[in-house]
Amino acid sequence: MLSFRIVFRQTGAGVHRRIAHAQAGTTVLAAGIQAKAGIPHKCGGQGSCGTCRIHINPRSAVNPPTRIERFKLSDKQLTEGDRLACQIQIGCDLEVDIPESALSRVVRKQLEELHRNKDDDRMD
Ligand code: FES
Repeated sequence: MLSFRIVFRQTGAGVHRRIAHAQAGTTVLAAGIQAKAGIPHKCGGQGSCGTCRIHINPRSAVNPPTRIERFKLSDKQLTEGDRLACQIQIGCDLEVDIPESALSRVVRKQLEELHRNKDDDRMD
């Protein structure tokens, strides 16, 4: 059976990168879980939560957007390559960008601020 290389990149503070090898037909979410890539998936891959949104090259050789994705994502998002990881069946090597969640972004900014304040205190 064909096996493909999937590169996961998590954006945010620095770039977190994981690589998985997955057989044709495996979902991007399943490959991401195997690689501990950090893709959120509140509904466990049932297509109901929308938390597994990722970005791929829109010309990648994967299945077209499912009915669930067309319901959860706008035409513009789909055209630009936003997809739900649980709905994509791997059919080629892929590069997958995992956006930083809003909660992670808030926590990261607060931690950065805290570290900045500690550094300022040491300078005084
Ligand atoms: S994991 Fe919930 S929509 Fe994909």
